[in-house]
Formats: sequence, structure tokens, C-alpha cells
Amino acid sequence: KKRIFSAIQPSGSVTLGNYLGALKNWAALQDSYDCIFALADLHTITVRQEPAKLRHNTLEAYALLLSCGIDPKRSPFFLQSHVPAHSQLAWILDCYTQFGELQRMTQFKDKSQKHADNINAGLFTYPSLMAADILLYQADLVPVGEDQTQHVELTRNIAERFNNAYSPTFTMPDALVLKGGRRVMSLQDPTRKMSKSDENVNGCVYVLDKPEDIMRKFKRAITDSEAKVHYAEGKAGINNLMDIYACVTGKSYEEIEHDFDGKGYGDFKQAVGEAVVEHLRPIQERFAQYSSDKAYLQQCWDAGAEQVSRIANRTLQKVMKKVGFVL
Ligand code: TYM
Repeated sequence: KKRIFSAIQPSGSVTLGNYLGALKNWAALQDSYDCIFALADLHTITVRQEPAKLRHNTLEAYALLLSCGIDPKRSPFFLQSHVPAHSQLAWILDCYTQFGELQRMTQFKDKSQKHADNINAGLFTYPSLMAADILLYQADLVPVGEDQTQHVELTRNIAERFNNAYSPTFTMPDALVLKGGRRVMSLQDPTRKMSKSDENVNGCVYVLDKPEDIMRKFKRAITDSEAKVHYAEGKAGINNLMDIYACVTGKSYEEIEHDFDGKGYGDFKQAVGEAVVEHLRPIQERFAQYSSDKAYLQQCWDAGAEQVSRIANRTLQKVMKKVGFVL
């Protein structure tokens, strides 16, 4: 079976973009692949966090991912900070990553604009920590949204450089960007990706939003001055709503265009909101259960860390030996 690794940052509430772009697929992938999942909390502190909030967000994200169908019995699901090999390999990989490569990362460029008062070294070397996450487990495939593919590409370059310098050590990973939800856009500015850092609260839908908030956000979604529901160039708002609707209902663009023929944008936005609410309802119900059982969550992440440490340490030892460290 092929190995899959992926992670998400516990940097705030989980968005509909995270869900449709990544999490929704993770659960399904467990049937056909050998999966390992993590909360990338080391990555989260590249932006200043309030400690109590980080703890809260980590617990919430863990419970929510279980609610989305991640089964920790089948797929080890752990916290990155619990497995020291991630930091250890990241340092080594830093020494095999070029300054210029990191400088070209679009996420670094975006984030250093957004957090101009805290452009720390971790924000810069973030991609080599992500490379360590992936390479430690010899992952074949890395399911991510489109915004992370550049980092997976860099991971391949680092792996190839290391393999060429010594001998084959790391499996070459491929990004797995699944159709639908690859890039969910802000409801208020459909030219930008939906993100927790959206200044406009109506731009970003959260998986744990109350139904009335979800409905309000969709009803206020920015569209265009035409009034026909169809997928076309220059209709970023409608295209985004159609993508979201297709993702949660399984309908094709043609079916959607047919269903809303002769109807206005108001009707369509209402329908998208309702479909999202219905889709998220069972997840929210399971979340209410999981989030109230911290002992269970802890048991799951402890078991996960223990299981993956064995694999991670094996890779780390191999790397240390090749580099020339005395073991
Ligand atoms: P993060 O936490 O920003 O996002 C988690 C996942 O959600 C996807 N995503 C989106 N997909 C579609 N539309 C959007 N608007 C949208 N916003 C987010 C992301 O592509 C991602 O798949 N660096 C990673 C976490 C990470 C990781 C890893 C991922 C750390 N180590 C190793 C894979 C492998 C991140 O910050 O994702």
C-alpha cells in the first residue's frame, strides 16, 4: 500500500477551505492507503500565538478531524511537537535548502507582508520543516490544497539533492490535489483564497459555524452583475459558489446550471448555504461528542506519537549516519 502523509495547522478554527481542500478527502483516502496525519503545531508558532488559545485550537482541531472521519485506529494521528524527530530532521534539511529557494515561496512572500512586524527565521524555513514532516515517513503522496503544492515541489527538490549527495534515502513524494475544493475562495473577495486571516468575517466560513452564520455568509457572497448561474471566465464569485455546491452535493456543473436555469443568484446562494449546513450537520454533531472527552483525545494522540516515532526515528538515524554524525 502507498503511504500518505498530511497535516493541518491548529492555527484557529478550521475553515470550509481546509475542509473541502483537504480534510474531506483524508477520511476517504484511509480506505486505499496507509495514512499518517498530524496537527502541525510547530508550524503554527511561526505566527505569534497566545498559549491558551493555541492549546484550545489544538484540542478543537483534533476533535474536529476525528469528527470528519479520521480513524486514529487505522491512521496514526499525532501532534507534530510530540515527535522530536520533526525538529531534528528539519535542522538537517535546512542545511540542504538554499536561501533562494525559500525566498521564492509565495506563501512566505504573502505572510511576510501580512506579518511585517514578525518576519522570523521560522516563517522563512517553514518549508524545510514541512519537508521533514513528509520525508520522515517516506510518504508517496501528500494530499493538500493547491496553495501547498509549491512546498511539496520544494520537498522533492530537497529530497533529490540529499539522495544525490549520498545514496537513495528519501522516497520522492507527490502532491495529491483532488478535484473539487482545490482552492476555495473568499466569499467577499473571490480572487483570494478563503483563509482564517480574512479581515472580512463574512468572507470565511468555518466548519463549526452556526447554521444561521453560514446562511448569512452565503447570502452576502459577492457575485457579479450578470444573473445567470453558469461557470465562466470572469465570474469568480459564481464559479466559487458552484465549486462549493458541487463539492458538497456531488452534482456536476451541468446539473447545477440546469437546476438553476431561470432562477436568480438569490435562490442559488440560499441553496448553497443550505447544502453546506446540511453537509456539516453530522460533523458538528460528532464534534460535540469528541470535544467533551479530552481523555480520549489524549489517548489517541499519545498512541499516534508512539506509533509514528518508530518510523520517524528509523529515517532520522539513516540520515544522521549518511551525513557523517557519529552514532
Ligand atoms: P494549512 O493548515 O494552512 O491548511 C490545511 C490544508 O487545507 C488546505 N487549504 C485549502 N484548500 C483549498 N482552498 C482553501 N482556501 C484552502 N485553505 C487551506 C491546504 O492546502 C492544506 O492542505 N503547511 C501546511 C500544513 C503542513 C503540511 C505538512 C501539509 C505541515 N506539514 C506536511 C502536508 C504535509 C499548512 O499550513 O496547511
